[in-house]
Amino acid sequence: MTQNGIATLNLGDGKEAIELPVISGSMGPDVVDIRKLHAKSGVFTYDPGFLSTASNKSSITFIDGDKGILLYRGYPIEQLARQCNFTDVCYLLMYGELPNESEKNDFNKLVTSHTMLHEQLVKFFSGFRRDAHPMAVMVGVVGALSAFYHDALDISDVTHRELSAVRLIAKMPTIAAMAYKYNIGQPFIYPRANLSYAENFLHMMFSLPTEDYKADPRIVRALDRILILHADHEQNASTSTVRLAGSSGANPFACIAAGIACLWGPAHGGANEACLHMLEEIGDVSRINEYIKRAKDPDENYRLMGFGHRVYKNLDPRSTLMRETCHEVLNVLGLENDRLFKLALELERIALEDDYFISKKLYPNVDFYSGIVQRALGIPTSMFTAIFAMARTIGWVAQWNEMISDPEHKIGRPRQLYTGTVQRDVPAGYHQ
Ligand code: ACO
Repeated sequence: MTQNGIATLNLGDGKEAIELPVISGSMGPDVVDIRKLHAKSGVFTYDPGFLSTASNKSSITFIDGDKGILLYRGYPIEQLARQCNFTDVCYLLMYGELPNESEKNDFNKLVTSHTMLHEQLVKFFSGFRRDAHPMAVMVGVVGALSAFYHDALDISDVTHRELSAVRLIAKMPTIAAMAYKYNIGQPFIYPRANLSYAENFLHMMFSLPTEDYKADPRIVRALDRILILHADHEQNASTSTVRLAGSSGANPFACIAAGIACLWGPAHGGANEACLHMLEEIGDVSRINEYIKRAKDPDENYRLMGFGHRVYKNLDPRSTLMRETCHEVLNVLGLENDRLFKLALELERIALEDDYFISKKLYPNVDFYSGIVQRALGIPTSMFTAIFAMARTIGWVAQWNEMISDPEHKIGRPRQLYTGTVQRDVPAGYHQ
């Protein structure tokens, strides 16, 4: 981080001009450092939705939305998706480097040793209605982890932070799979130490006490890729939620529960579920134009799900990798002629040639194809966002840990532009 110039802000009315440092990071746009602006001038900046505001510095993930580039710790997502597995990526995001062979073994052993849940916590599930959405269960159960694993909640202690992070990464698949099993009325399947992260999740989802689920390695690889592609995405809404919750010193389990709640929304992690519903609703290639027309109509509050992104104004590199995985999975399963996949390919083709989508730089995002892959794997729609939460947990904990380790970190406390009634008095004689 280096100072690279001075920006001058002229507030008019004969007020003295304010000088603000311009700071460069290692890549990406410079920032104007406005931390002292209010103290120097008495004004705030106004930026709802953080369209022009860097809320923190970070060395974890880099996105160039105009070029369609995504890097985790400097490595391109394409290389990580093709050459690494999910736990390698977890290690990379957490510690900054890819693990060597012995670090890889130790980390896998460590994660595997924390996959079980406290048996009392397993009973917690029975407090939910059977038809509860898995994300509702996840918010509750992950928040409850702090009541069970409070032996390592001193966030000023590096080893406590590391243990809580590993517990979260390890237990998330168990919690997600249990939410599913509870929903469908099947007995919980406990995690196994001899399976990889993705394989273990498929085992807990699809094995029965009477029969083990044997996953095709290509299917395991597809799920592993979904997890890698969703692992982190710099300061998105749910990650910012985790950082804001954590900035007050709240424990990591409570912070991740807050992140899960934010992820649930259809403008964020809920988009993959919404996208599959949209494809089912369109139903046939012949109806695509009708839906494109609705998405373009300013009087209709309708959007094509799985299209558009706050940061990517070019192809989302994750959607290209996800489309590739979609082809592979459908081929493995003999579903090359899958109706929804064909519909999605055609919808993408038509939208990418349409002036509205071109001029607004709306491209398919990661969620456009991930729903089709997950559906082909036998994962029900209601579990899509839960799997996203499972994958994003490493990003959340890495970002939370980075924030807590930063000596400059402060409680997050945005200001506002007040537009309410000016000060007035309660009428004399007014009583309850
Ligand atoms: N379909 C049709 N029009 C769209 C779409 C879409 N999917 N997305 C944006 N637009 C239009 C908007 O109507 C707006 O038009 P206007 O300039 O005429 O008002 C313009 O494009 C810009 O849209 P904003 O909402 O201002 O862009 P923003 O950056 O705030 O939103 C978002 C990004 C939320 C992702 C948006 O594109 C969207 O709602 N997409 C659909 C939901 C989705 O797929 N979400 C997944 C995001 S990726 C993730 O979380 C992993």
